[in-house]
Amino acid sequence: MAIRNLRLEGDEILYKKSREVEEIDDRIQVLIDDMIETMHKYNGVGLAAVQVGILKRVIVIDLYDDNGPIVLINPKILKEKGEQEVEEGCLSFPNRFAKIIRPEEVTVEYLDRKGKKIKTKAKDLLAQAICHEVDHLEGEVFVDKIIPGTLEYVEPEEK
Ligand code: NI
Repeated sequence: MAIRNLRLEGDEILYKKSREVEEIDDRIQVLIDDMIETMHKYNGVGLAAVQVGILKRVIVIDLYDDNGPIVLINPKILKEKGEQEVEEGCLSFPNRFAKIIRPEEVTVEYLDRKGKKIKTKAKDLLAQAICHEVDHLEGEVFVDKIIPGTLEYVEPEEK
């Protein structure tokens, strides 16, 4: 496993659309492991492959709960329900946070890393994370859809 370089604000790749994964081969498995390691290194709750420079529809999410990291390949949001106003950040926009409206619940269909098709409902923070990462696959970044005037820069803590 390896930490991959994060693509940051200003990098054109963040605005490109990712392609479907056609075969979950060894390269995809390595990519997934590296993405999980990279997400953990930067204490992120989610990461899309485009953020490490790979235009494939692969997402990893970790809410640091009992579920451990979740891998979503070729995710599709089938249904959205309700609204939540939430605070959001992104590893590609370090130390920046803003308020945004996300659905409260989504129904999502995806393949897990073994290629098994899964359809599930996600709520609250998980719904928010899925929407944020699926946006990345479409070449959309959160700062373009925030509630105007809510973007803040938070000084990083000294390590
Ligand atoms: Ni992000």
